[in-house]
Amino acid sequence: MKRDLSVPRHVAIVMDGNGRWAKKRYLPRFFGHKAGVDTLVKVINACADHGIEYLTVFAFSSENWKRPEDEVSGLMGLVLVAVTKYLAKLARDGVKIVIVGDRNSVPDRLRAAWAEAEQATAHNTRITQSVAFNSGGRWDVVQACRQAVADGLKPEQITEASLSGYMAMRHAPDPDLFIRTGGEVRISNFLLWQVAYSELVFTDCLWPDFDVAALEAALAVYAGRERRFGAVSTLPFEASSG
Ligand code: FPP
Repeated sequence: MKRDLSVPRHVAIVMDGNGRWAKKRYLPRFFGHKAGVDTLVKVINACADHGIEYLTVFAFSSENWKRPEDEVSGLMGLVLVAVTKYLAKLARDGVKIVIVGDRNSVPDRLRAAWAEAEQATAHNTRITQSVAFNSGGRWDVVQACRQAVADGLKPEQITEASLSGYMAMRHAPDPDLFIRTGGEVRISNFLLWQVAYSELVFTDCLWPDFDVAALEAALAVYAGRERRFGAVSTLPFEASSG
């Protein structure tokens, strides 16, 4: 069956705005992150229902260690809570979970929870949910180069294709659509290598409020974009201008 090109194959999301969502309700920031996990579970299923094959979210960046200690430990603990609360459901829903990021320097209990989530869902094929944790675009380029050098690649063997094979996201095609919630208009070091030709959509919606309608609005914006990958437009002048 031919794929519907107006639907992205891979969507990447920066789930921003959890802290502000909690603040608006006079709650500690942690409650925003907790609500964010519930939103994520709904969005994973909505993406799968729309035929999206890969969803990648930024859950904890290499730079998030700069946050207050209690928020950092809260986010680490939230992964354990999320695995306990949702792993069985996600496994049943056909979701394959892949964790991308630097596994050194995260607590042992977290590493074990990730391994459990990956093992329990390894056979699933409905949608691949990658969770970027202790991860960042620059970290990924550096770790890929280090591995290539350690493998003995000669300078002329270092190409876009060979380096892509060392990237943490090598299991997925590049994202077609990049969404950032929460009103900021930046990439914040998320998947730098892979978003080279992604369509970018920014929304003021705070992540815990990002529902199926908000996802569908972003998908409609994507469907209206003309992707050229550096080439010239193939549309007639009237259709491509304005
Ligand atoms: C940004 O909001 C959000 C984060 C740094 C964390 C997002 C993490 C989750 C939703 C939990 C993920 C957990 C699993 C298990 C996938 P912010 O804190 O920067 O919000 P603000 O800009 O309003 O302060």
